[in-house]
Amino acid sequence: MKYSAPRGTKDILPEESQLWQFVEVACRETFELYNYKEIRTPVFESTELFSRSIGESTDIVKKEMYTFPDRKGRSLTLRPEETAPVVRAGIENNLISPDQLTKLYYLGPMFRYERPQAGRQRQFHQAGVEVFGSSDPQLDAEVIQMSVKLFEKLGLKELEVNINSVGDKKCQPVYREAIQRYFKENIKHMCEDCRQRFDQNPLRILDCKEAHCQPYIEKAPAAVDHLCPECKSHFEQLIGWLDKLMIRYRVNDRLVRGLDYYTRTAFEVISKQLGAQNAVCGGGRYDDLVEELGGKSTPAIGFAIGLERVVEIIKNHPITHYSLPITLFIATLGDKAKETGFKLLADIRANGFSADMDYQGRSLKAQMKTADRIKAKYVFIIGDEELAKQSAMLKNMQTAGQQEIAFDKLLEELKGG
Ligand code: HAM
Repeated sequence: MKYSAPRGTKDILPEESQLWQFVEVACRETFELYNYKEIRTPVFESTELFSRSIGESTDIVKKEMYTFPDRKGRSLTLRPEETAPVVRAGIENNLISPDQLTKLYYLGPMFRYERPQAGRQRQFHQAGVEVFGSSDPQLDAEVIQMSVKLFEKLGLKELEVNINSVGDKKCQPVYREAIQRYFKENIKHMCEDCRQRFDQNPLRILDCKEAHCQPYIEKAPAAVDHLCPECKSHFEQLIGWLDKLMIRYRVNDRLVRGLDYYTRTAFEVISKQLGAQNAVCGGGRYDDLVEELGGKSTPAIGFAIGLERVVEIIKNHPITHYSLPITLFIATLGDKAKETGFKLLADIRANGFSADMDYQGRSLKAQMKTADRIKAKYVFIIGDEELAKQSAMLKNMQTAGQQEIAFDKLLEELKGG
């Protein structure tokens, strides 16, 4: 009996994990540059946390959650996203307060029971940020800018920032009504999903990808035309700040996010280097969520990046050098040489250089093959003759050049590059 990874999940193998680490380090460095601190929350939470925050009528809550009872019958759910857990943890640990700015970031696996396809998995990974304590549109611009800077650092090209405003508690019902009024006549010609959404979550109709629904969707009223004066001004200020930061964006009045907690700013970063699942980042403001989950009313904004999609782009467009090669491989011939090599290895590693040797008693030729496979930059070859001289050839695998180095000078040589 052979087992395979569950449908919609993937093993990240050593060859690819270097690229993952490169992406993760870039995320951490960028977030920390903007003064975010890491938070780690459990992989599962009470089901109600997600159904209340993401919304009962969303696809995520209706169809995509991994929900199970524990042995005491409590309903738990593997996190489909991280905003709700961060808000929960922030309130529970008194990290969030309306009169201070709290900036948090996270990296980790999320779980959604979706139909797997390129760029869509059931276990996938996000890197995201959440900032609490300000409704200043300048902060919205900073958050969007940070995602763009991160993608630039990773070498991603052909990106498009889409922004929209979905209004607040005051203007959302007005827009919802306008949408329902508009679709009322034609909803019978639209797909099953749209018909279902019409009553429960009419805004989501705008997100339908069915070709025959598009003519109706194209002419639907825009949220930005139904904003109250405060939300309108907030959106205009955001645009002003993005212009000042020289961030290019497209105002996309069809942009509706798949989670119900958003207010005002909603945004997505789309990559033209991907297929159908082309959103590499999604986020927005959620000024009511902290209060809805039992905290003091505190405005907030954040985003999450889909790491599988970022990794996919870099893999297909090798733009940046990301591999972290093993620095040195010590090839040995005979037990005495192995003993000396073993000691040298410990010393080299203790000085921060990555190094390895053979433990399978293989021939010199086989050892050289291993050095090549693990992409060692240097090989140091020790046999009886070398033991007698206390020096050996250090071979540069990239240039094929070599020079004799005394055992006690090896470290110095590596330090010199
Ligand atoms: P989201 O748009 O549902 O937002 O997910 C953010 C990103 O995660 C997507 O743009 C996509 O890159 C990636 N993603 C989502 N589902 C999958 C999947 N099944 N397979 C692979 N990648 C996926 C959120 O999750 C919000 N919590 C973002 C946020 C943070 N809003 C405010 N703060």
